[in-house]
Amino acid sequence: MLSLKLVQGTYNSYQSDGYFIFLPEGFSFTGEYEFVTKEFPHAQGLLKQHGFTGKKADSYTLSTEKNGSFVHYIFLGLGDESNASYDSIVESRRRSIARGIQIAKKLKLSEISTVIPAVAEGGQYASMIEQLGVAAIMMTYEFETFKSSKKDAKPWSATLTFLSESCEESECQSSVERASIVGHAMNSTTRYFADLPPNIATPTYLSKKAEELAKKYDLSFKSFGREKAESLGMGGFCSVDIGSDQDGKFVILEYKSGKSDAPTIALCGKGVTFDTGGISLKPSNYMTGMKYDMSGAAAVLGIMSIIGQLKPAVNLIGLMPFVENMPSGKASRQDDIITHLNGKTTEIKNTDAEGRLILSDALAYAEEFYKPDTVIDIATLTGACVVALGHFYTGLISNNDELIASLRKSGQKTGDRVWPLPLDDDYRAGIKSEVADIANIALSSYSGGTIEAAVYLQNFVTSSSWAHLDIAGTAHDVPAINYVGKGSTGASVRLLVDYILSKSR
Ligand code: BES
Ligand code: ZN
Ligand code: MG
Repeated sequence: MLSLKLVQGTYNSYQSDGYFIFLPEGFSFTGEYEFVTKEFPHAQGLLKQHGFTGKKADSYTLSTEKNGSFVHYIFLGLGDESNASYDSIVESRRRSIARGIQIAKKLKLSEISTVIPAVAEGGQYASMIEQLGVAAIMMTYEFETFKSSKKDAKPWSATLTFLSESCEESECQSSVERASIVGHAMNSTTRYFADLPPNIATPTYLSKKAEELAKKYDLSFKSFGREKAESLGMGGFCSVDIGSDQDGKFVILEYKSGKSDAPTIALCGKGVTFDTGGISLKPSNYMTGMKYDMSGAAAVLGIMSIIGQLKPAVNLIGLMPFVENMPSGKASRQDDIITHLNGKTTEIKNTDAEGRLILSDALAYAEEFYKPDTVIDIATLTGACVVALGHFYTGLISNNDELIASLRKSGQKTGDRVWPLPLDDDYRAGIKSEVADIANIALSSYSGGTIEAAVYLQNFVTSSSWAHLDIAGTAHDVPAINYVGKGSTGASVRLLVDYILSKSR
């Protein structure tokens, strides 16, 4: 567990057993860094000899002894920031501080402090420590519940203190608190539930966990299964659920701001606890990793917990259809025709395109019962999105240009990036069906699987402010970004929390 703290002070005045010292290319130990040469007269030469020049991935540690214990100076390279945009400077610093955390953890330090260097575009210090604080906490995440050797060992616990002399205290204080809430909810809720194996994280289990979170964070909780879903006419949810021995759960969490003019936002998260493909069975090498097919719903669980703590002036509803997509004698077939909550009929041409079947009912449910101003769905929806965008950008499709702009801005600011794909009427004909209103996969001549899936969902939205986030490539196993780590990444939590807070009245 990493705690974050804010202290008015400097390296000289604050005692810790580790200091993160960020250095740009061409650094020198003058000015605020002069204290380094007091401790280590030869620091400049030593670092140079060890190849530390302040480049982005550089790190080097110098250690000394003070009053009987060791003190470690952990130098972290910033690279050349002179021509970089503010957002890309912050992203590169996320990776630097994460590298520092990795070193601190190895050294088992318990008190680390740092001064975050100013950036030419000033005035954004509070936001900077918020962003770096979240990344530092993300870096500490490990999924080792099932490693018998690690389970009983005492987990690393430390405090990271941001030292500042200039930061407006209350503003920086709330930034640090927000970072702590967001980072820890991502790790303990979104990432942990997504990483849990599908034999444990069943719809029933996740519904119970949602209920526990609701109690803890003062949210209202509702959950129902197939019987109620059937009576409501949620043919999509039921058609995926029916093949599994695990009972599906449609879970709803609600945060009410109590402010009459607050906007209402609904989040629908895909919660397929395991996706075998159903009767349209996946080949086994494509099936491994399909425990992550509930990452959208896990993101919603995390976001609801965060918003329950931050209490902005926004009403937020989280809808999570949890089902397991299994083949069996009761499972849905290709050629089946189902009727959704909003009355539209779908010809099932492939039972592996199941996410859109449950999300469409969730979207229709959100609109019918909550009349939200904005609806956003989050889903590991298509392999095509991984092909199109890879692992660093979530696919964004929306019917509203302002919403696209807001989400892109939040994405750049938080490092939880999104990239827009088009949504034109031309794509709509791809999912036409000879026998029902629409089909759940597009004609092969249309290609564009990510957009065709979105066009399907659009049939269940009447709101003029809707966004679809395809996190198939970003939700897990993202390479090369140290702080998102192995396994679940918590994709879309940072993005949507920032977006929701920006709508607070
Ligand atoms: N859960 C998958 C999407 C997915 C694939 C996520 C790979 C992450 C990595 C989804 O349910 C699915 O199976 N989609 C199909 C749709 C197709 C049948 C139109 C796909 O992408 O192949
Ligand atoms: Zn799926
Ligand atoms: Mg599927």
